[in-house]
Amino acid sequence: MSTDSDTGHSSPSLPAYGSTLTDVRLAENAADVLRTNDMGGWTKAAPLLYPHQWSWDSAFVSIGWAQLDVRRAMTEQQRLFEAQWANGMVPQIVFNPLAGPESYFPDPARWAVEVSPEAPVGVAETSGICQPPVHAIAVARIWEVARGTEAEAGVRAELRSLFPKLMAWHRYLAENRDPSGSGLVTTYHPWEGIDNSPRWDAVLARLEVGEVPPYVRRDLSHVADAGQRPDDTAYDRFLWLLELLKAYRYDDAVIHERYPFLVKDVFFTSVLLMANRSLLTLAEAVGATEGERSTIAGWIARARAGIAATLDPESGMAYDVDMGTGEPIEVATFAGMCPLLDAGAAGADRATALSLFDSEAFAGHPELRWAMVPSTSPMEGCFDPRNYWRGPVWPIVNWLFWRGLRDGGDVERAEALRQASLDSLRHVGFAEYFHPTTGEGLGSAMQSWTAAVALDWLAS
Ligand code: SER
Repeated sequence: MSTDSDTGHSSPSLPAYGSTLTDVRLAENAADVLRTNDMGGWTKAAPLLYPHQWSWDSAFVSIGWAQLDVRRAMTEQQRLFEAQWANGMVPQIVFNPLAGPESYFPDPARWAVEVSPEAPVGVAETSGICQPPVHAIAVARIWEVARGTEAEAGVRAELRSLFPKLMAWHRYLAENRDPSGSGLVTTYHPWEGIDNSPRWDAVLARLEVGEVPPYVRRDLSHVADAGQRPDDTAYDRFLWLLELLKAYRYDDAVIHERYPFLVKDVFFTSVLLMANRSLLTLAEAVGATEGERSTIAGWIARARAGIAATLDPESGMAYDVDMGTGEPIEVATFAGMCPLLDAGAAGADRATALSLFDSEAFAGHPELRWAMVPSTSPMEGCFDPRNYWRGPVWPIVNWLFWRGLRDGGDVERAEALRQASLDSLRHVGFAEYFHPTTGEGLGSAMQSWTAAVALDWLAS
């Protein structure tokens, strides 16, 4: 890695990649990325571009650590949950207090989460939004790896203290983020997961952007070219939304009443559904009460019905709902196939999503370098193969589809996706995302979560 950039995709200091790279060497390279980004108890999402602990990155990172050191994997989650808000929210970013304000923007001063009585003031500096809840999925994977080893008793003890925190996190999402009980989680900001996805374009275009205090983007100094990142128009909107959330003191009730970016998010909801299935396994491991188990089962049933209600009869896609207009957001992105993330979804809904998955709109597109799911369909007018969530392939998204396919009994497709993904990683390395047709590595070159899913795929 070069010192001033995360994007040394062809740097001579990176190990050679290619089809001849053995699984052992690939695993060693992945482990090196996690060790390089390890801050002792928590892991940077990337060396320079993302120098703090990100919520969903950290969950994937734990899945990777599980293959190297299960206790370390649990520590990652314990550290993250120390920053949990009083209302149960797990924040999108836990800032490294030693990194300094120049390391990343927006910094803690811009978020000013102390305006909320729920923020963990004095414990950790955090941002004021959240990200998809991969955590229970990660912890269940750690538990699976630990069972039958000498680490089992220690991990079980840690699990007992983490379980109520996971419950509180899922309860926050089921209640504060879904006050009407629709089964669908409301997201407040593109940074709650899929940054500059075209899913948000229409909502963002409608915003009347007020005065945003001046700012300097730090991300652009760590990527090879600005075309791989969200543009400035999008950034102004991201920052304006932050100002509003802060003005509303990050209060979910006020936000649901007045705020202009409210989306019923099918992908976020489906990750929560998958995570609740994992939480049921963990409930078993810790001997949770009947009441807790039936609460989780209720959340699963409600989310399943919520997702089913978003399916568009014509395209077969699950579409987010723009709460500002009440209309579905009809853009072809990977989120449209989210019934595949639910192993218990109705057979017909999964079958429709599977045919989308195989079609040229997604993994079956003839020009793809590897048969993997791109972030936005190559058939969409706005498809942009080098720009962040507007086209590139993200390995972690493919990991979620792989898990959903495998758990839903689609073993052959799951295995084909695992093999395609491993082959891509052999060639591309641990890039944050890559060009779907050329395989060019994009974003950060040493992205922790990409290395983490490689370790899990190799072990599976
Ligand atoms: N992905 C965001 C960024 O680009 C933050 O979550 O900084």
